[in-house]
Amino acid sequence: MPCRCGSIKPSGKGDDLGFAILKGFHMSCASLSLGLFVWRGMRVLHHRPIASMLWARIVPDTVDALLLGSGVALAWWLHQIPFESPWLTAKLAAVVLYIGLGFVVMRFGRSDGVRRMAWVAALVVFAYIVSVAVSRSPLPYLG
Ligand code: HEM
Repeated sequence: MPCRCGSIKPSGKGDDLGFAILKGFHMSCASLSLGLFVWRGMRVLHHRPIASMLWARIVPDTVDALLLGSGVALAWWLHQIPFESPWLTAKLAAVVLYIGLGFVVMRFGRSDGVRRMAWVAALVVFAYIVSVAVSRSPLPYLG
């Protein structure tokens, strides 16, 4: 029966390399996702739409899907379950918020001010997600 405590690591029975590769992939997707989000947000805020650039619509969605998919795979690997692991619950809630803010920036924001605020808020939420992931705590700097 696998332990579901907050500090499990892969067993060490030959699967550590696989875990490290998956985590490296997940972190690469996170960096790419951030870079694309910053770039797309800056274009939208400067009224330079990306709708005409097919790759700029497909690549970010693909990267985000890979980011979420690899995150789920990591959680499965570590036997971490949302609502049992507070850090994962907090991270998932923040991911949902990040996605929602992304929609406000890219589609639903009615004014430049709203879009700009949503963009900044999304970057703050992204920083929180990374802090939660690194610290494995829902309150990263508070213990
Ligand atoms: C915007 C979305 C996400 C970002 C920016 C992100 C970022 C990261 C980062 C930077 C790490 C490496 C932390 C370290 O140094 O150990 C990580 C690990 C991890 N992430 Fe994500 N992640 C995201 C989404 C998800 C999702 C949706 C899940 C699960 C459903 C998830 C589950 C995990 C797990 C289980 C780990 C391994 C933690 C460990 O080794 O202790 N992530 N994530």
